[in-house]
Amino acid sequence: MTASEMSLTRQAVAELAARIRYHQYRYYALDDPEISDQAFDALFEELRALEAAHPDLRTPDSPTQRVGGAIAARFEKTRHPALMLSLANAFHPGELLAWRDRLRRLLSEAERDRLAYVVEPKFDGLTVVLHYTDGVFSLGATRGDGEFGETITANLRTVRLLPLQIPADRAAGLAAPARLVVRGEVYVEKADFARFNQRQLEAGERAYANPRNFAAGSLRQLDSSITAARPLKLWVYQALIVERGPALSSHWEALAYLRSLGLPVCPDVQRFTDDEFDQVTAYVEAFSARRHDLPYEVDGLVIKVDSLLMQEELGFTGKDPRWALAYKYAAEEAITTLQDIVVNVGRTGAVTPNAVLAPVQVSGVMVKSATLHNEDYIRDLDIRIGDQVVIKRAGEVIPKVLRPLVDARDGSEQVWAMPATCPVCGAPLVRPAGEAATYCVNNACPEQLVRAVEYFVGRDAMDIAGFGIKQAELFVAQGFIHDLADIYQLPWEQIRQLEGYGDKRVENLMAGIEASKDRPIHRLLTALGIRFVGAVVAELITQHFTSLFDLVDATPEQLNAIAGIGPKIAESIVEYFSVASNRALIEEFAALGVRVAADAPAAPADGQSLAGLTFVVTGTLPSFSRDAAHAFIKAHGGKVAGSVSSKTSFVVAGEAAGSKLDKARQLGVPVIDEAALRSMAA
Ligand code: IVH
Repeated sequence: MTASEMSLTRQAVAELAARIRYHQYRYYALDDPEISDQAFDALFEELRALEAAHPDLRTPDSPTQRVGGAIAARFEKTRHPALMLSLANAFHPGELLAWRDRLRRLLSEAERDRLAYVVEPKFDGLTVVLHYTDGVFSLGATRGDGEFGETITANLRTVRLLPLQIPADRAAGLAAPARLVVRGEVYVEKADFARFNQRQLEAGERAYANPRNFAAGSLRQLDSSITAARPLKLWVYQALIVERGPALSSHWEALAYLRSLGLPVCPDVQRFTDDEFDQVTAYVEAFSARRHDLPYEVDGLVIKVDSLLMQEELGFTGKDPRWALAYKYAAEEAITTLQDIVVNVGRTGAVTPNAVLAPVQVSGVMVKSATLHNEDYIRDLDIRIGDQVVIKRAGEVIPKVLRPLVDARDGSEQVWAMPATCPVCGAPLVRPAGEAATYCVNNACPEQLVRAVEYFVGRDAMDIAGFGIKQAELFVAQGFIHDLADIYQLPWEQIRQLEGYGDKRVENLMAGIEASKDRPIHRLLTALGIRFVGAVVAELITQHFTSLFDLVDATPEQLNAIAGIGPKIAESIVEYFSVASNRALIEEFAALGVRVAADAPAAPADGQSLAGLTFVVTGTLPSFSRDAAHAFIKAHGGKVAGSVSSKTSFVVAGEAAGSKLDKARQLGVPVIDEAALRSMAA
């Protein structure tokens, strides 16, 4: 190949990668794909083929190299045992009454007397259909087009709330039905969703647009270990088929039965008789306020006719059953003026643009600011200062700007550009090639320090009770903290002079800080906030480097040799410790009595996080010997088996895994790696 041909190919690869990233962005971040899955797959395949032919053109940030980038997911199709209907919507109490009137007209007088309703939350996630055969979870699928869904059994097996066997509690003396097919919703809790997105943004990765996208994106991974590491939850809300189980005559009974089998059924369900219909409308109204206190997103309620016989008689029109109605709360959107765009500095130095809004009421809460994600988001949506913008608030999730109202412009709107310098410290802001995020290059930036301290003391890191963002801000502003080690040498006498820092408070804080000194070293490593080194990676690394003093001198090759640690992570660690002040930090921690080396191999936690799961370990794992892996699983309440069967929950596979891996694939048993096992146990 000539030099000019090579340069053309290089350009083609770069362009393809850019197009793929753009479409991933439309799909994941905006939930608004421009091209079909097939067209996307074709682009992805083209890039893969080009890279295979020219491996030197494959960059570490190529979409083909990104775990989790697999939206080219190809799953088998499953035909549902019955059409998976959708629901008709209502938005006003009047429509509820009209629905009830119609039901009453369609039913006989005798039926009207027995008419009752079950009201339950309308969960906002991904609809799934779960099959149990002789009590064993045998198949799971997405709703798809209602007739066919995608078979995602292996990924669903990683959802912890999904019992792999029913009844989950054998001791209850209940027999398993010969066949059970249920419908449910896989979702993410609001706090988990916000935390996940925050981490993505801090790592310079893209965030998911909404909890539903998160659930869908997490379940449609080709690699189950990615799904396993996602905080997915499940509610089951409909029994579609029950064979050789109790005869069920009502939905209410069905829910109780599913619950007794150990399936997660939402406790927030209510039953009303037809006489009590005025209470249904009152309940619906009252729930509108209450739903914000629920840990998961609810965009409405579903009202169902309780009697299964009546349900059958009422049937459906088009795709909607006559016996159920979704009462949707008005979208939590509002229109307001975007007064300004300011940038906030995060712990890694990543700066995120935030909207300053003319205050506006959104579902009962005054909103004054909203996230704008990153530079590309603003540019791609052409959001300008002075625009009228649509904003959305979903539960606890930070409000976001959805789009500008282009037609409302009067020409005075200003196009925004990312500032060249950090608004807090004045250092240059840079955007690394191929990344969405922009960074403040000054490690000593005070705002970075506040965020770094907040992260250090946080629950996933050193977990210091009584220490949060307020203390971080205060102590940095007072000049008590200049680097992370200063957390262990605070001037307590001066702190006692501060308002609100009485004896009790100070004592608690001191005790919290003292207790954190003996945390396992993977927590300290996490707490340093090195890019790409979160809790899971930190644990992996400290299995190999049992002292942070050794890690300081680690070479990229040594780090790369650890399975699960790629070049990006290795480079990030080496870069971090190439900075003299970061090396000195470890010395300081040690001098201050903070644990920087493990006494003995990290003892497994005594939790029962793997209870009910059966594992088969095969191949060579990066840090565990076979015996150590078995001990680890048992210490966390899991079971270990020697051979793979349909009863196996997970196969943990390492290097050179052989026939057991093949067997797992044949049976659709999810295969995970050591890192995923650790994260499940954590
Ligand atoms: S009942 C035939 N109950 O909402 C009706 N659906 O907009 C069966 N959904 O995809 C559905 N929460 O899967 C029912 N408590 C609930 C629900 C629920 C969420 C989903 C449903 C459907 C969508 C309809």
